[in-house]
Amino acid sequence: MVIYFSGTGNTRYVATLMAQLLGDETRDMKELIRTGKRVKFYSQKPYVICAPIYAWRYPALVEGFLENSDLWGSNEMYFVATCADTTGTAAKFCEKFCTERGMIFMGFAGVRMPENYLVMFNPPDEDECNKIYKSADCDVLEIVNTMNRGCQIQDRYSTKRSKAASLINPWFYGTVVSAKKFYATDKCVGCGRCAKVCPYHSIKLKNGRPVWADKCIHCMDCISGCPTGAIEFGKKTRGRRRHYCKRVPKISMR
Ligand SMILES: Cc1cc2nc3c(=O)[nH]c(=O)nc-3n(C[C@H](O)[C@H](O)[C@H](O)COP(=O)(O)O)c2cc1C
Repeated sequence: MVIYFSGTGNTRYVATLMAQLLGDETRDMKELIRTGKRVKFYSQKPYVICAPIYAWRYPALVEGFLENSDLWGSNEMYFVATCADTTGTAAKFCEKFCTERGMIFMGFAGVRMPENYLVMFNPPDEDECNKIYKSADCDVLEIVNTMNRGCQIQDRYSTKRSKAASLINPWFYGTVVSAKKFYATDKCVGCGRCAKVCPYHSIKLKNGRPVWADKCIHCMDCISGCPTGAIEFGKKTRGRRRHYCKRVPKISMR
């Protein structure tokens, strides 16, 4: 079973492709998180967890979700992360999680996908994205081949500087991650998509316009998936490209 979290579609693409190649099923973590209930999974095949990297780790809400889930059936777990550059020290949490749960850690691997964090960076243009997707497809094929052999998967994009990671992650959540600067411009048509996709139910429509409560993970789904490009984050996102992966898996194991 491939369980994934995705803000802007990159990880959904990778998870769906993996599930197709493995002949397995997917579960969307964000939908499950939105129910607010503890989730019980049952899988005969090894679990594959897929999530993006936020500040060199899995997102805090992904780690929290896994800690609050029951995993029955297979005791083998693989972990895959999509990242724009490096996976930092995300594998550490995964190994510890398996040890604490009595599960078998089958390895962690990163897959490079386009940058989606437009609050800090300029996401790549379409041509660049297509190059990144092709390389990601190769990474996924290699990972699935290794899984099919029952071997441990390996990460190519980890950061060895674990001290820096242990400082960056709390700084990031303490100072950068906040919903305070989100607002909707006149382009907003009040469709309510942003409210429907927020994992924390933090966005409510008031007089047909979205208003953000404090709780936020900066998944970028509201701003990057807005059909009219009406959402901004302070001044930083003005004029920046919104990255949202709508690619459909087309490759097979041959
Ligand atoms: C809040 C936030 C923090 C991020 N931090 C990192 C990072 O530390 N390293 C990295 O390589 N990419 C980082 N990224 C980029 C994403 O990991 C990458 O674009 C990922 O594929 C997005 O997946 P998604 O479309 O499934 O949400 C960050 C993105 C966001 C939104």
